[in-house]
Amino acid sequence: MRTHRIAAIPADGIGKEVIPAGLRVLQALAERSGDFRLDVTEFPWGSDYYRQIGRMMAEDGLETLKGFDAIFFGAVGDQHISDDITLWGLRLRICQGFDQYANIRPTRVLPGLTSPLRAVNPGDIDWVIVRENSEGEYAGHGGRAHRGHPEEVATETAIFTRAGVTRIMRTAFEIAAKRPRKLLTVVTKSNAQKHGMVFWDEIAAEVAAQYPQVTWEKELVDAMAARMVRRPGSIDTVVATNLHADILSDLAGAVAGSLGVAPTANLDPSRRFPSMFEPIHGSAFDIAGLGVANPVATFWTAAMMLEHIGEAPAAERLMAAVERVCADGVLTADLGGTAKTEEVTQAVIAAIRGANA
Ligand code: IPM
Ligand code: MG
Repeated sequence: MRTHRIAAIPADGIGKEVIPAGLRVLQALAERSGDFRLDVTEFPWGSDYYRQIGRMMAEDGLETLKGFDAIFFGAVGDQHISDDITLWGLRLRICQGFDQYANIRPTRVLPGLTSPLRAVNPGDIDWVIVRENSEGEYAGHGGRAHRGHPEEVATETAIFTRAGVTRIMRTAFEIAAKRPRKLLTVVTKSNAQKHGMVFWDEIAAEVAAQYPQVTWEKELVDAMAARMVRRPGSIDTVVATNLHADILSDLAGAVAGSLGVAPTANLDPSRRFPSMFEPIHGSAFDIAGLGVANPVATFWTAAMMLEHIGEAPAAERLMAAVERVCADGVLTADLGGTAKTEEVTQAVIAAIRGANA
């Protein structure tokens, strides 16, 4: 019997609804598989913890998390605490502390879902966006001077390092090489940003030389946004900077039918540290506590987590169950349905239990 240690951090808003749902589904999968178990520890970190303790996570939180095989994360963000405290205190702290430099965002139009793009049907879109997750525009480099005076100035410097760009390009080429089309689009803005983005392009070309089996191309980020809408079928694997991919991945989620289904994995591909798996949607406090949150993004990210920890058959079984339930029309309100979180969760668990494969 294989045992995997999972740290669960529901944190804020609908994270407290979708993570418990995800854990039940994972438990059902472990039972159905019979050859692995998940040893789950839940952590109470997040904005409520901050209100009580004055910190977003325990002081030795990173040290504690190091002992786990993966982190299953909900969402962070609170109406009454500023985002730079909540985000930097928990999610970005874990991403940066564990050098989770590759953020993987798959997009597909699942069966039963409708893309807002007229000509797009389930199966037409199958993208993987690889987001640089450790530097670029999110490096936290910069500062403020002349505070409160008319001369006040703020800088926010994007940082691109040879090591950082090389490793994300390698990750992207590796992923592209394993996919059927072996096609990688390198998103850039080197027409306007002549230092960092030209460097980015140069390193892409260097790394590309090591992957002759992958067809690659460059696309400017603005043109890429238009292409995602106008020629979505021409896209397969995409690599982009932290900010560019942040924006493009919301567009991708919308094109797939809802951000409520979009998953993400914050990976340390070198496996020195645990990787972290989360839905993209965020804490959504407008619907928190109502039991209507879409758990599909969390189920999908749970499948990514299973794959990462070496349980690929269970990951496939989970995605098959999710697709079956979506195709059957058990959909939450963000997808035009009336099902609640609980109904979708129960339907997915029933599909897992009933599956022959
Ligand atoms: C995401 C989110 C975050 C990001 C926010 C919450 C800082 O939008 O995961 O895409 O931009 O990284
Ligand atoms: Mg985002």
